[in-house]
Amino acid sequence: MYRSHTNGELRAAHIGQEVTLAGWVQKSRDLGGMTFVDLRDRYGITQLAFNLEENSDLCLQARKLGREFVIQVKGLVIERSSKNANLPTGEIEIKVSELNLLNAAKTPPFTIEDDTDGGEELRAQYRYLDLRRNPVQQKLRLRNQVALETRKYLDSNGFLDVETPYLIKSTPEGARDFVVPSRMNPGEFYALPQSPQTFKQLLMVSGFDRYYQIVKCFRDEDLRADRQPEFTQIDCEMAFVEQEDILNMFEGLIKHLFQTVRGITFEGNFPRMTYAEAMAIYGSDKPDIRFDMKFTDLKALSSGKNFQVFDNAEAVIGIAVPGASEYTRKQLDEITDWIKRPQIGALGLVYVKCNLDGTFKSSVDKFYDEAALKSWAEASGAKAGDLIFVLSGDLDKTRKQMNELRLRMGTELGLRKPDEFKPLWVLDFPLLEWDEEHGRYHAMHHPFTSPKPEDFGLIDSEPGKVRANAYDLAMNGVELGGGSIRIHDRALQSRMFELLGFTPEQAQEQFGFLLNAFEYGAPPHGGLAFGLDRLVATMGGSDSIRDYIAFPKNNSGRDVMIDAPSQIDEVQLKELGIKTN
Ligand code: AMO
Repeated sequence: MYRSHTNGELRAAHIGQEVTLAGWVQKSRDLGGMTFVDLRDRYGITQLAFNLEENSDLCLQARKLGREFVIQVKGLVIERSSKNANLPTGEIEIKVSELNLLNAAKTPPFTIEDDTDGGEELRAQYRYLDLRRNPVQQKLRLRNQVALETRKYLDSNGFLDVETPYLIKSTPEGARDFVVPSRMNPGEFYALPQSPQTFKQLLMVSGFDRYYQIVKCFRDEDLRADRQPEFTQIDCEMAFVEQEDILNMFEGLIKHLFQTVRGITFEGNFPRMTYAEAMAIYGSDKPDIRFDMKFTDLKALSSGKNFQVFDNAEAVIGIAVPGASEYTRKQLDEITDWIKRPQIGALGLVYVKCNLDGTFKSSVDKFYDEAALKSWAEASGAKAGDLIFVLSGDLDKTRKQMNELRLRMGTELGLRKPDEFKPLWVLDFPLLEWDEEHGRYHAMHHPFTSPKPEDFGLIDSEPGKVRANAYDLAMNGVELGGGSIRIHDRALQSRMFELLGFTPEQAQEQFGFLLNAFEYGAPPHGGLAFGLDRLVATMGGSDSIRDYIAFPKNNSGRDVMIDAPSQIDEVQLKELGIKTN
């Protein structure tokens, strides 16, 4: 028996018991006649005490222990003379009678404590050591709880967990596919699924009715804090449902998870907003509604005063930033430079200070008098002490830029509190999105999404105006999940492929299996998928999903620990019939 208890387990009630513990040496301290060692495992830390006078051999042995040595000790649980209220085991210590070294350790490249001195790259390289740290372990524990409670909820609602293949056919779903060469079929490739979308729809055709899977998905896209090339979805599909049934079912899931995992109750229904409203009010389809700063259309109020920039602009949008009228010139210049960077691309930034004495001071005083500025303040709800920012230009671009500014200001003013959670359903996404680069439409969600029946009539005349039965759940500015009611009719699905630029032959070649299946009695169906990594990171109050993944990739898609991707040898390439240059 390696251990009788874990290092997080012993309390005053155990005093007087002989125990055996095992774990890692967190640190040791020599205080004259005594040596103390903090022994750590994933359950906690227990203090070991060695007395030089009582057992000098053992104590000298303990003094040689380095950080991260793996040891086993036997000893008596005794009351601590100086108790540590910050440690669950802080009332006791172990008077050690036997010490066994199970494995020595090199000095770790960074300290394995809650606050480490290791940089990100170094910790990624030694991820197995980083994972020993308590804050990182807590995050994976949170992930485990969320996954477990997800299974419980879905199982109790009659969902069946069905696995779908990872080696599939390359399909256009938005991102690039990762492909896998087939040795047995030279020159041919599988693709790794961007999601199990078509398979879950086929399961509905098969009659499974309620499907779910906690499943890896793979997308070869540019990475960000909330994007990994392989990530996990809570993927779900239901048959014989309308949008409302799906929203209710999965609102229930999110409520269940927050309740059971974080003890947080959401009262009432989640708020809802259409995509069009979200874009007009927040310039984003995943607005962070923990704070206000809603957009105000200042086009009419700002026109006709000879300020060409606003007069010529398609859109003039303002936001009122609370309590920021005393921002200095330097601060405002910095924000202006930031928003003009190519990544955001605004041409300039106009500000109006609503001074506490009721006067106004703006960067466009030459064109607008006090009365004009006052009308802007009234329209945008700015009060004395607030600052108004105004951006202008092309409507879509201006909205996007203002969204960035709004989020930045929200962060800067501490309005995006990590322990506040504000869900929002965003509904009625457009079916199609115009792709400037390729001069054609592509599906905003995916090609299997159903247009709204009331918009069917616009499909031929104004396809860009057709709305879809598609929805996202946003929380705190993050898209946690999304889905749609699907097309289950062959003719409509064929029409959709046509709109997306597929010839009938291409559609048959790519999606023949699905189109054929629709001819054998496909039920009405729909579903959604949550990003598990994003859900857990949001529940943990973090923007980055990386910490919630045991072995994540860096921003270049590399696993620096195992050093992947890597080259493969000539023999392997030859077998696969692949030539590289
Ligand atoms: P979608 O593409 O919206 O829908 O993906 C669903 C959710 O998955 C998460 N997600 C990601 N998380 C981390 N890294 C990524 N690269 C990444 N990409 C997406 C997001 C997103 O909301 N098959 C459809 C779902 C459906 O229609 O049922 C789909 O995959 O949280």
